[in-house]
Amino acid sequence: MLSNKTLKSALFASLLAFAGLVSVNANAGDITLVSTQDGSPLNIKKELFDTPQAKEFLATGKNPYIGNEEGIKGGKKKFNLYSCVACHGGHAEGAVAPGLIGPGFKYAKNATNKGMFETIWNGTNGGMGAKGLGLMLPDDPSEGLKPDDVLKVIAFIRSNSKITGNE
Ligand code: HEC
Repeated sequence: MLSNKTLKSALFASLLAFAGLVSVNANAGDITLVSTQDGSPLNIKKELFDTPQAKEFLATGKNPYIGNEEGIKGGKKKFNLYSCVACHGGHAEGAVAPGLIGPGFKYAKNATNKGMFETIWNGTNGGMGAKGLGLMLPDDPSEGLKPDDVLKVIAFIRSNSKITGNE
């Protein structure tokens, strides 16, 4: 027969295991998005990741629109609408601002889709403005790209490039 002490420690161990499970589920393994300026967390509201593709990105850091025709087409439209084209050129080859096709980048992290998302969302200290929703124009919270739009823009940029950023 099991002693009281053995039972208690078995119960304690299973409680610990349960607590572990609960805390893992609370975060669902989301990636941590950080600014390109200083690496501080971006704290983008989770509700803004409102498409299956955006949710997958938040969970894995991979961009599901890479190589996806619809995603690339939508991204090209936003690339023009948000004037990326004026500074970076029609195929992201570079104009008054640097090219975006790599494989070398001023900020090395832009070779990954997580890194490029962070740069487009929050900008840089060297002349690239934040394009994330609510960050573009200080007095208009509705202006800017939603996470799903940023992923499509990245898919368009990568469609001109040899790297996918999901490597
Ligand atoms: C007004 C001009 C301008 C516009 C508009 C603009 N950018 Fe930029 N972008 C820049 C400049 C200048 C840099 C270089 C920044 C630096 O050196 O810190 C840059 C850098 C970048 C980088 C990092 C490149 C590297 O080598 O690391 C990415 C990615 C980028 N821009 C994407 C975009 C996207 C996507 C858009 C549209 C949503 C956009 N930019 C709109 C001027 C612009």
